[in-house]
Amino acid sequence: MNLILLGPPGAGKGTQAARLEKLYGFKQLSTGDMLRAAVASGGALGKEVKAIMDRGDLVPDDVIVRMISERITAPDCRDGFILDGFPRTVPQARALDRVLAEKGLRLDHVIELRVDDAVLVARISGRYACASCGANYHDTNRKPRVAGVCDACGGTEFVRRKDDNAGVVATRLKAYHGQTAPLLPYYRERGILASVDGMASIEAVAKEVDQIIGKSGK
Ligand code: AP5
Repeated sequence: MNLILLGPPGAGKGTQAARLEKLYGFKQLSTGDMLRAAVASGGALGKEVKAIMDRGDLVPDDVIVRMISERITAPDCRDGFILDGFPRTVPQARALDRVLAEKGLRLDHVIELRVDDAVLVARISGRYACASCGANYHDTNRKPRVAGVCDACGGTEFVRRKDDNAGVVATRLKAYHGQTAPLLPYYRERGILASVDGMASIEAVAKEVDQIIGKSGK
């Protein structure tokens, strides 16, 4: 099954995508994670995108489309993929349509996570991740079972993203409302858009997502 999770920064796309991958084996493809890995590796792509990401602006469409079009046909996507953070502009969505058609693939569902802007700022400023395995936590909404120890791998070091501060979040929200929200009518017209109340708890959102995709996991 091939899915898109669509929503503003902090809506819970990464949280839900990681759960779907773990339970059902659809590969999570996060363009944000791919770009952060490129920045960390210090290569040409990373150098090109670092300042853009630090400001909270969107990376040019051609860079992103090149990155994702190779990725969706890798062997680990044979049971399906979840696009987390892509597409983010109408030109990216059109390019994705072309790539899918060329490769004989299709999208099954586009799931929008709806969350108010004020809540997003609180979510993003409280977010952190395990430095070893990347498992996602929050100061109040999702703490590790044992304080300071990652539930997933036992790691004890945690990191916060450089673009997770109030000033940059404002730019990221502006990019969402101006450039990404037009994808909602784009996919609604194709009859594959479903919207979920992303303000509900992580578990309640997961349940709604499962209903949309016809699964009933834990
Ligand atoms: P990216 O990494 O994609 O960031 P984003 O879209 O801003 O999304 P986030 O990762 O911040 O949020 P999320 O929705 O995954 O929320 P999460 O699950 O972590 O992009 C970063 C940058 O890369 C962009 O600004 C851009 O520069 C560039 N980029 C990436 N893709 C691009 C593209 N296609 N085109 C151009 N540029 C691109 O949840 C957030 C927190 O809330 C967590 O702590 C979580 O525990 C908590 N939480 C989650 N769900 C709930 C809930 N239901 N209730 C309470 N708390 C919750």
